[in-house]
Amino acid sequence: MKLLLTGVSGLLGINFAQEMMGGHEIIGVDRGKLIKAPFRVLKQDLLNPRAVDAVLDAAQPEAVVNCAALATSTPARTTPTLPNA
Ligand SMILES: NC(=O)c1ccc[n+]([C@@H]2O[C@H](COP(=O)([O-])OP(=O)(O)OC[C@H]3O[C@@H](n4cnc5c(N)ncnc54)[C@H](OP(=O)(O)O)[C@@H]3O)[C@@H](O)[C@H]2O)c1
Repeated sequence: MKLLLTGVSGLLGINFAQEMMGGHEIIGVDRGKLIKAPFRVLKQDLLNPRAVDAVLDAAQPEAVVNCAALATSTPARTTPTLPNA
């Protein structure tokens, strides 16, 4: 299955990718942290309203796994609009 995986540079995302790589095609979404990966990576900031359409168009995935998140509450406290995206 072709899986589009957001948050692929994060703890959950990279471990999920490693687990699934053997049996599935992984296409990751990253904001630029991943320098090298054993799968295709699309660079997008998902706060950009056009980013979701852009990655779906580019990847044409059969399923999407969203591991992108604010994993701590600190950014949400300092920038209250972030969690609304
Ligand atoms: N870690 C765990 O053990 C665990 C267990 C259960 C559930 N969870 C949940 O899983 C989610 C992810 O946790 P995590 O530990 O993997 O967090 P993390 O290591 O901080 O990873 C978060 C990922 O989201 C990406 N991201 C955040 N905002 C983005 C945006 N605007 N556009 C594109 N990518 C964006 C980050 O990219 P950048 O690197 O570019 O910031 C990073 O790859 C959270 O909801 C967490 O509560 C985690």
